[in-house]
Amino acid sequence: MKLVLLGPPGAGKGTQADLLAAGLGVPKISTGDLFRKHVTTGTPLGLLAKSHLDAGTLVPDEVTVGMVTARLADADTRPGFILDGFPRTITQAHLLDEMLTASGRSLDAVLEFQVDSAEVTQRMSGRRTCHACAAVWHLDHRPPPRGRCGTCGGELYQRPDDEPATIAHRLQVYRTQTAPLAGHYRARGILTEIDAAGTVEGVSQRTLAALMPAL
Ligand code: AP5
Ligand code: ZN
Repeated sequence: MKLVLLGPPGAGKGTQADLLAAGLGVPKISTGDLFRKHVTTGTPLGLLAKSHLDAGTLVPDEVTVGMVTARLADADTRPGFILDGFPRTITQAHLLDEMLTASGRSLDAVLEFQVDSAEVTQRMSGRRTCHACAAVWHLDHRPPPRGRCGTCGGELYQRPDDEPATIAHRLQVYRTQTAPLAGHYRARGILTEIDAAGTVEGVSQRTLAALMPAL
């Protein structure tokens, strides 16, 4: 199963991607997670990406596509993959199409997670991420046990781009640069809209129901 997850920042793409990856036995490839790892380890790519992540702007297409190409070559994608946060511009979408066509493959589905701005703002404000394993928690909706990561016990931090002003900017970037991708995939007949309000379990059930015909 080859999937792309679309949706505004904080919509729950990463949360649902983890559940789908575990359930379907396919790797999750999250450009946000990959960039944050490069920033933490201080690679040249991380140094370049950091200012974009902190400002809530997009990392240039050629840098992002290069990173994804390398990751796709690394991962065992024979059973498929879940792209979380990529593509995010029309250029990236075209380059992904070319990349897949070159290897005789194509996307099975693109899921667009729909949630309103007030809800995604609330989700991002309460998010806490593990320094060690990148697991994601929420102060109200998925409280970390004893204030530490429930997966590995690691220390949690608040992402710098989850500050209120940066959240507002990321939502604006999403509306102008990424939301138009829905039309690109709808025209190809592979877009499915998912109501991503409500609980993690509810969204997960709707997602699986939407994918059922393709499974
Ligand atoms: P990235 O990390 O991809 O950020 P994003 O798309 O803004 O998405 P988020 O990670 O904020 O949210 P999410 O939808 O995954 O939600 P989550 O599951 O965590 O990108 C960061 C930056 O990297 C970008 O700004 C850009 O600079 C750069 N970048 C990345 N990709 C790029 C690309 N392709 N091109 C160029 N630049 C790129 O959930 C959010 C919170 O809500 C969590 O606390 C979670 O526990 C909670 N939650 C989840 N689901 C629910 C629910 N149903 N109910 C209640 N709470 C919930
Ligand atoms: Zn952890």
